[in-house]
Amino acid sequence: MGFNVYVTRRIPEPGLDILRKECEVVEVNPDDRVLTQTELLEQVKGRDGVLCLLTDKIDAEVFDAAKGAKIFANYAVGYDNIDVPAATERGIAITNTPGVLTDATSDMAWALLFSTARRTAESDKYTRAGKFEGWGPMLFLGGDITESTLGIVGAGRIGTAVAKKSVGFRMKVLYADMRRNEELEKEVGAKQVDLDTLLKEADYVSIHVPLMPETTHLIGKREFKLMKKTAYLINTSRGPVVDEKALAEALKSGEIAGAGLDVYENEPEVEPGLMELDNAVLAPHLGSATIATRTKMATMAASNLAAMLKGQSPPNIVNPEVLKK
Ligand code: GLV
Ligand code: GLV
Repeated sequence: MGFNVYVTRRIPEPGLDILRKECEVVEVNPDDRVLTQTELLEQVKGRDGVLCLLTDKIDAEVFDAAKGAKIFANYAVGYDNIDVPAATERGIAITNTPGVLTDATSDMAWALLFSTARRTAESDKYTRAGKFEGWGPMLFLGGDITESTLGIVGAGRIGTAVAKKSVGFRMKVLYADMRRNEELEKEVGAKQVDLDTLLKEADYVSIHVPLMPETTHLIGKREFKLMKKTAYLINTSRGPVVDEKALAEALKSGEIAGAGLDVYENEPEVEPGLMELDNAVLAPHLGSATIATRTKMATMAASNLAAMLKGQSPPNIVNPEVLKK
């Protein structure tokens, strides 16, 4: 007891309840906005642990300001916002929230796939603008989903879930990953191919890799040239995996048919070139945004934090080396 923790932005109450039960001081950023870096540096001072979000940049400077802190529990599965080696050097544990958002995020990939192929966002605007004058043989023709080819880039938990959900649509599934995924091969008949082959053959390319130096701009000008003119790109992973300027150009010139995006290179900014295009569906990073999923993420992040403070191993530690120190 006696622990003092900080939560960088309001999260669902069940997560805060866990923290209040285990800690003496639980301070939550009272404003529903991202803290500035200066505020973050100020607020982490003297804390035993911090529950942070993917919108917080957690680097060496933050860890040094948080002297004495044992853990930064990220409220996300992705932790590219955190300098993990810097945390490890200082013996600070980092945790994430894997698994609980796999279904919600894979559902979101499908929502974007459908919306992009069948042009629901664009046609909704049209209808609301009073332009609908009756059924038309050439009105908003889109792409077929059933019996098309789905290309999964990164066949981890989320990529695998997206692929499995394709079964009802009798899709052929290709995947590109460093590792073989036998579960996917067995369950949906997926075939492992190299990225270039996937890009050339897929009607839908859905991205599910974590952001790392090796995956930054994994999809750019060269890759759009490889894709079919009728193909669609779906990204629910991290924005910088796609070269957004090159994407805007590919969409504008008709090099690919459309894109469904949940993430952006410089969130919350969106490449202006994309904003003007009707063949891009733009969601504001909602992959895990269901009530149940966000609640599970909150309790998971809080439980990780509480475990570490109580001297137990946090279930979702990403740098277990620190426990041995
Ligand atoms: C959301 O983008 C996450 O990584 O949890
Ligand atoms: C993330 O949860 C992934 O492995 O896809």
